[in-house]
Amino acid sequence: MPTPSDLAPGHLFCFGLGYTCRRLALRLLKQGWRVSGTTRSGQGADTLRQDGIEAWVFNGSAGDTLDKTAFADVTHVVASIPPGAEGDPALVWQPDWISHAPSLRWVGYLSTPAVYGDRGGAFVHEDDDPNPGSGRGERRLAAERAWVSAFEKTDVSIQVFRLSGIYGPGRSAIDQMRSGKARIIDKPGQVFNRIHVDDIGTILMASMQQPNHGRIYNVADDEACPSGDVIRYAATLLGMDPPEPIPFDSAELSPMARSFYSECKRLDTTRIKSELGVELAYPTYREGLQSILRVGM
Ligand SMILES: NC(=O)c1ccc[n+]([C@@H]2O[C@H](COP(=O)([O-])OP(=O)(O)OC[C@H]3O[C@@H](n4cnc5c(N)ncnc54)[C@H](OP(=O)(O)O)[C@@H]3O)[C@@H](O)[C@H]2O)c1
Repeated sequence: MPTPSDLAPGHLFCFGLGYTCRRLALRLLKQGWRVSGTTRSGQGADTLRQDGIEAWVFNGSAGDTLDKTAFADVTHVVASIPPGAEGDPALVWQPDWISHAPSLRWVGYLSTPAVYGDRGGAFVHEDDDPNPGSGRGERRLAAERAWVSAFEKTDVSIQVFRLSGIYGPGRSAIDQMRSGKARIIDKPGQVFNRIHVDDIGTILMASMQQPNHGRIYNVADDEACPSGDVIRYAATLLGMDPPEPIPFDSAELSPMARSFYSECKRLDTTRIKSELGVELAYPTYREGLQSILRVGM
């Protein structure tokens, strides 16, 4: 199996240079890639440019037009903007960018397991029928389908990645404990998977080396568990006391967090290993948090 460091340099364009894409961008820049993409503010664009990323401002609304020369020699695209009520801004407001990207050969759409809906804690596989139980999940499923259909009858290979809870340096239970914002929401039986941001990068790079048009990948670690386990482990690593659990029914949660906690599933991740040959650097939150504490970046 090829390794991510064998990946020949190209030009990656990211719709939404947020946490995951920026981390991937920095890794690819080191391997000689050109990286460009969008962010919503001029200030965000300036920060990205300091890292060597060609940043374009795009806030995903009607009339907000991207300069199509940006796509002239783009070979790979990662789509990372969450869909709104109208759909995915990159497709709704900028559909013609595809015809301005003649060198494009690989697209990755970053989705979520919300498309599966609640599975009562059972394992869910990519071939299982999606059954979203929330507006969030329905919007995602519609966006997945819109991205796949945008590349029907083309030579471009599109893949869908259903990412579990993303964590990594600057966005982890370690950071939550240190900032005093850690909470343990107690909902007996509720578990979910996580994924370290750098393992996402490895999986995306492995897919770039082995395109498989229309393929869906669950992107998750090997151990679904309650969120409290992760917070308590971070507290132990830091030598701090964990917060008291808050019962789910009385917890103050955003609508998105409440919808997230109302579903329970474990992701089957055989495919990223057997087809893409990926060995996770952080198979559970324990390796991930230890590394964040050790390296801090
Ligand atoms: N966080 C999780 O645990 C999780 C789990 C599964 C899937 N996901 C999804 O996976 C993707 C990557 O996650 P992430 O945490 O790396 O994302 P993120 O850090 O929130 O970045 C999202 C990017 O999209 C841009 N964006 C957001 N709304 C936009 C809009 N209406 N118009 C134009 N641009 C917009 C943001 O712009 P700015 O640069 O200006 O912020 C940012 O660059 C996202 O779609 C996310 O919803 C996340």
